Amino acid sequence: MPALMSLSMYGDIGSASICIVGAGYVGLVTAACLADMGHRVACVDVDEEKIDRLRQGCLPIYEPGLQPLVEKGSARGTLRCTTSYEEGLAGADFVFIAVNTPSTAEGAADLHYVREAARSIGGAVNGRRPIVINKSTVPVGTAEMVENILGAQNGGSVGPAVVSNPEFLREGSAIHDFFHPDRIVLGCRDPQQAARVAELYAPLNRPILITDVKTAEMIKYASNSFLATKVSFINEMACICEALGADVTQVALGMGWDPRIGPEFLSAGLGYGGSCLPKDVRALIHVATAQGSPAHLLNAVTQVNLEQRQRLVRRLREALGSIRGKCIAVLGLSFKPGTDDVRDAPALDLIRLLQDEGAAVRAYDPCAEENAQAALPEISCCPDPYEAAEGCHALIIATEWEQFRSLDLARLKECMANPILADGRNILDPARVREHGFTYLGVGRPDQTQLHALIHLPQDTSALPIGQQT
Ligand code: NAD
Ligand code: UGA
Repeated sequence: MPALMSLSMYGDIGSASICIVGAGYVGLVTAACLADMGHRVACVDVDEEKIDRLRQGCLPIYEPGLQPLVEKGSARGTLRCTTSYEEGLAGADFVFIAVNTPSTAEGAADLHYVREAARSIGGAVNGRRPIVINKSTVPVGTAEMVENILGAQNGGSVGPAVVSNPEFLREGSAIHDFFHPDRIVLGCRDPQQAARVAELYAPLNRPILITDVKTAEMIKYASNSFLATKVSFINEMACICEALGADVTQVALGMGWDPRIGPEFLSAGLGYGGSCLPKDVRALIHVATAQGSPAHLLNAVTQVNLEQRQRLVRRLREALGSIRGKCIAVLGLSFKPGTDDVRDAPALDLIRLLQDEGAAVRAYDPCAEENAQAALPEISCCPDPYEAAEGCHALIIATEWEQFRSLDLARLKECMANPILADGRNILDPARVREHGFTYLGVGRPDQTQLHALIHLPQDTSALPIGQQT
């Protein structure tokens, strides 16, 4: 039965021996953070190049704060990276699976990396029984599948209970999120196993929910789907605002103060992207549909999300007459600031749409150029925003990197052939952009500059009527 547990119930596990399978955004961060907490951690990955780079002290991904943690763990000998399951699993008390679970062509979660990892773990445990924990985002029923694989490899039909421990960290703030999670979710058919995993997290002093496996697996999909829904909701409000002449940024501000709504995930823009929200919504739609439970809301969430990019292209087409033969600058390629990850990045979708209509694209990103170039070889990347804007007929801000908030607008206008600025993330002040002679296209913001919002905050809440003091 699901129950909210108090951390005081869990003891200090001391220094455990942990193996993390998968050295990606989740696996490497988890490995480095657990090593920092004093555990002995081995990170196993099948990608030899990745492990070689890690051994030479080079991170295969950009994640703020990760490099010093990896260096510290390696120097102390608490963090090791290897391609050998035997080496990684030797003496391990806990084995975390953190491999990728991308979308199949049909939108399902592709579990073949999880199956391979389970088979490799089963083949290397060598009679020992470490606790196997699944951290990858996987559909309901996957922990059971892993149990069966482990069991089959060890001569039984069902293997040891697998703990489901979905991960909620965000790229760009992954280290902070690991050490300060809002909650830790553990699902298991054996509460003793889950309690052992809870001991690992006890020093973080955060709420832990121990529940059954299917519920834990579902919590992850429900969480990401809700976040996606919030983004598509505000984007739909943005479309309505555009039609009616209201400003969605101020609508979101006014909504967000209501604690039942909350201010997070109410930024209208080009829609959500990244390696998880899009694929997880697709996967939940896929399983729901397969079970005869049509996911009406989630289908609409996906549709609204895709249309955000198409709408911006349509507005540019209207502003330019035609996109064919035009040169467009795109600032920001990663799916959000603070990461080099371009998986399902709205910017790349947008660039494909522009190229399909015959535009040439010049792009700039402070961090994701290499990954973007690998995904879309035909984009021409420039060393800074001004070079990207050179001779362009329009410029689009596709990712809200901090540096784009203080662009030198006069210099931009100077280098562009035509001054159209599409602010796909609503980060600029429309009045200031227009003052510099640009046509400003925001998302859900009126065509003409209107009054700035005025916010009065009570300085002395004791002056408020009793009952309304904060
Ligand atoms: P990733 O692609 O960055 O890393 C996965 C790693 O697993 C790769 O290095 C790959 O080589 C390795 N791998 C694949 N098969 C393997 C095998 N059989 N044995 C050993 N290594 C293997 O993926 P990620 O972004 O870290 O995501 C991992 C999982 O965590 C996914 O299910 C994802 O949905 C989930 N998740 C990701 C995030 C995030 O912010 N990226 C957050 C929460 C949950
Ligand atoms: C998301 C979740 O926030 C994490 O909790 C989860 O662990 C992770 O997915 C995962 O399962 O991988 P992440 O993909 O790193 O984390 O990025 P978010 O910060 O959630 O942003 C996702 C996308 O939504 C970005 O493209 C971002 O630009 C967009 N977004 C976000 C908006 O368009 N508007 C908003 O108000 C917020």
